[in-house]
Amino acid sequence: MQKLIGIKKINIAVLISGNGTNLKNLIKHSRKKHAKFRITLVISNNLSAKGLDHAKKFKIKKKIINYQNNQNAEKDLLNELYKSKIHLVCLAGFMKILSSNFIKKFKGKIINIHPSLLPKYKGLNTHQRVLNNNEKYSGCTVHYVNSKLDAGKIILQKKVKVFKNDTYKGLSKRILKQEHSLYPKALNKVISNL
Ligand code: GRF
Repeated sequence: MQKLIGIKKINIAVLISGNGTNLKNLIKHSRKKHAKFRITLVISNNLSAKGLDHAKKFKIKKKIINYQNNQNAEKDLLNELYKSKIHLVCLAGFMKILSSNFIKKFKGKIINIHPSLLPKYKGLNTHQRVLNNNEKYSGCTVHYVNSKLDAGKIILQKKVKVFKNDTYKGLSKRILKQEHSLYPKALNKVISNL
């Protein structure tokens, strides 16, 4: 990784697998007057990810990575990140696990958003597990990515109340809304510490 001193805007790659509402929201923030970052690359492992439409709409370079073989996929991924001179990688609903070897190459420069109050509810199906356990609160977390799943240092978190008789749909919608305000804040925090 190159030194970031003197760079006016940070080049971000956003990695997605699905809807890409966080991607869309980060794009919106990157277009604000005093934004400290620009999104110059969108990567998906899934050719039919809906989020790719946002890249198209905003004319952002997009790449599909074939994940049939993990090692080759990560080689391609790394190559794309280097080619586009990416400084920071934002995972936003990216459903593949990055190897520790890959993470080492972008050490401290990969962040992720997770829909729970980490360290609680790592992994998948967070909202359903939260509801099953009658939790009073859930939320979302932006954290650095390290070699353990959803276990890197927490950057920012937002608590969301779980209502009595809450539904998966209702809870996930309310948390996603908070994700959209949390991710840009966390990203700016990371950038100011670079
Ligand atoms: C979000 O809930 C995020 O926390 C999780 O995957 C979901 C992605 O949503 N990692 P979207 O694709 O950004 O709409």
